[in-house]
Amino acid sequence: MPERTNRQWVLRARPEGMVDSSSFELREVPVPALSDGQVLAQTMYLSFDPTQRAWMAMETYMPIVPLGEPMRAGGIAQVIESKHPKFKPGDIINYLCGWQEYFIFEPDGENLVPPTKLPGHLDPALLLALSLTGLTAYFGLLEVGEPKAGETVLVSGAAGATGSIAGQIAKLKGCRVIGIAGGPEKCAWLTNEAHFDAAIDYKNENVGERLDVLCPKGVDVFFDNVGGEILDEVLLRVALRARIVLCGAISDYNTPEDERYGIKNYTSLIINRGTARGFIIIDYLGRALEGLLNLNKWVEDGKVIQEIDMQHGFDQIPATLTRLFTGKNLGKQLLKVSDAPLPLRTSAIEQAVFKIMTAYMGWRRG
Ligand SMILES: NC(=O)c1ccc[n+]([C@@H]2O[C@H](COP(=O)([O-])OP(=O)(O)OC[C@H]3O[C@@H](n4cnc5c(N)ncnc54)[C@H](OP(=O)(O)O)[C@@H]3O)[C@@H](O)[C@H]2O)c1
Repeated sequence: MPERTNRQWVLRARPEGMVDSSSFELREVPVPALSDGQVLAQTMYLSFDPTQRAWMAMETYMPIVPLGEPMRAGGIAQVIESKHPKFKPGDIINYLCGWQEYFIFEPDGENLVPPTKLPGHLDPALLLALSLTGLTAYFGLLEVGEPKAGETVLVSGAAGATGSIAGQIAKLKGCRVIGIAGGPEKCAWLTNEAHFDAAIDYKNENVGERLDVLCPKGVDVFFDNVGGEILDEVLLRVALRARIVLCGAISDYNTPEDERYGIKNYTSLIINRGTARGFIIIDYLGRALEGLLNLNKWVEDGKVIQEIDMQHGFDQIPATLTRLFTGKNLGKQLLKVSDAPLPLRTSAIEQAVFKIMTAYMGWRRG
């Protein structure tokens, strides 16, 4: 077989200010032969996540991406060669594929996130969206926010991947849901398509004034993806025993540390006996199946829409990351690298098990 060439986008320089394509360079390297215990996979879809900006620049809950290495990214890939008994050519996997066409992994080795096999009969792009930001919305809202029917739930970054799902789950739980997003199109999408009760266009409206009108009794749960000034405005308007879910703070990710917005109104949480709690989705991955089955069922039943913003082409990868920080994306930002190179491999037994588990989760939900 002729030697395969692997195209990779490697991290060339750490970003300063707004992340752009200049931090990356394209490299072509040969794909090495497999050793025992290793698996070769071909990347099909890549996920784009604001946290990648942090991975490029500092140690976080993950190690910093080393210079000269392919940029770290979650994705979906298909196994094309295997010297590991549990992974077969044709298997679809969810893994930290990185910005590269091919990668080798060792299922029994050290992995920042373990490779997970996915049912081959389900839409891989949908599973990728649900498995990252969908789970973040699911566990962040339900476990940290603890919304109750009749409460007012406010979501920032509401037309994005995490926010749009968090708001829709809150609606399913019987809450009144208000989203904050940038621009009239996104706000119209929130109320018309995602069935939010109201939307605030933070780029064209005064957020504080609109909150006064829309939440006269205060905000019970704030699912915050944005931080900064918007969080400060909301703090002034929390209800008694409000819960603030600190999911992300994208308004500050491209700002140097000493220039970040300083929150002024946190004492409102004392007066209102409120809480603000951060979380990282990897702490809930042990319960990923529960979240995935519920989310998948809600999407199948048309109760939740998972909007996917799909870009195409390996050359578009660096520019696609910038879309998150300029608000170009609606819903989950993905990029398609390739079709599945091999026929999909899901046995009838795997499909049946998946169906039974989905039904079981539906039964447990009541
Ligand atoms: N805690 C966790 O485990 C976890 C896991 C995943 C994601 N997150 C966090 O969740 C948040 C959303 O992530 P996502 O993957 O779902 O991305 P996303 O919401 O799909 O995309 C990012 C959105 O953020 C908005 N935005 C960008 N810059 C902004 C600014 N300066 N001020 C206000 N809004 C801005 C843009 O929407 P507009 O057009 O509305 O501005 C953009 O579409 C991020 O903060 C991310 O770090 C946390």
